Amino acid sequence: MSVGVDVRVRGLSHDYMTSNGPLRVLDGVNVDVPAGGYAAITGASGAGKTTLLAVLGGLERAGKGRVEVGGQDITRLSGDELATYRRSTVGFVFQHFGLLDTLTAAENVELATTLAGTARGERRARAAELLAAVGLSERAGHRPTALSGGERQRVAIARALANCPRLLLADEPTGNLDGRSTARVIELLEEVRLEHGCTLVMVTHDAALASRAGHQLVLRAGRSGRTGHAA
Ligand SMILES: Nc1ncnc2c1ncn2[C@@H]1O[C@H](COP(=O)(O)OP(=O)(O)OP(=O)(O)O)[C@@H](O)[C@H]1O
Ligand SMILES: [Mg+2]
Repeated sequence: MSVGVDVRVRGLSHDYMTSNGPLRVLDGVNVDVPAGGYAAITGASGAGKTTLLAVLGGLERAGKGRVEVGGQDITRLSGDELATYRRSTVGFVFQHFGLLDTLTAAENVELATTLAGTARGERRARAAELLAAVGLSERAGHRPTALSGGERQRVAIARALANCPRLLLADEPTGNLDGRSTARVIELLEEVRLEHGCTLVMVTHDAALASRAGHQLVLRAGRSGRTGHAA
């Protein structure tokens, strides 16, 4: 059973280097999510939502500020420590899925557990269970190129859940799904959160979904603020 981590970000600023010099995309962002909490991040396209998730997930190094996950400031970790953090703590549902085209749906899900050192039989069973949970048992043997966009998205969700991460970061996980699949995916994420106590941070453009989260954060041109109240 995983136990969620609390997330506390203070004064996070981040620049991307471009040919025209540094481009500031996060500018003094603060985030607070308690362990086991559910936070929704909304904001216009280009506001910095994916960048914020990438920093939280240890994929992008913060330019400035503190990023504490489970009481540990991840901005201070070495490259190796950050790799361990990503593997042991974080589950990531990428906006563009990030599936490996040479592997089947089931192998994509299994790969995450291989890296975590889970035994083979258990890996298979876990992958099958998760693909069933996202309604894709019939497609387990398909490669991503032979799946629809929404199906790929659901494989990406199954993969992120494979190791029961303590921090689950989901970048528009329902962006390609119809109403019924959206409801199923949200139910699954909620179920995993409640069962394993993991912390969920989800980016969404869906205001109705965001309003159901206990904590809401809106990014406007790289600055954080709160919408509404806890659900
Ligand atoms: N590697 C990069 N190099 C330079 N600029 C970048 C890079 N990645 C993103 N950006 C810029 O940073 C800004 C924030 O990008 P980000 O992907 O975080 O936005 P977003 O809020 O997730 O948008 P969307 O809703 O469209 O997914 C954008 O203006 C984008 O063009
Ligand atoms: Mg994005």
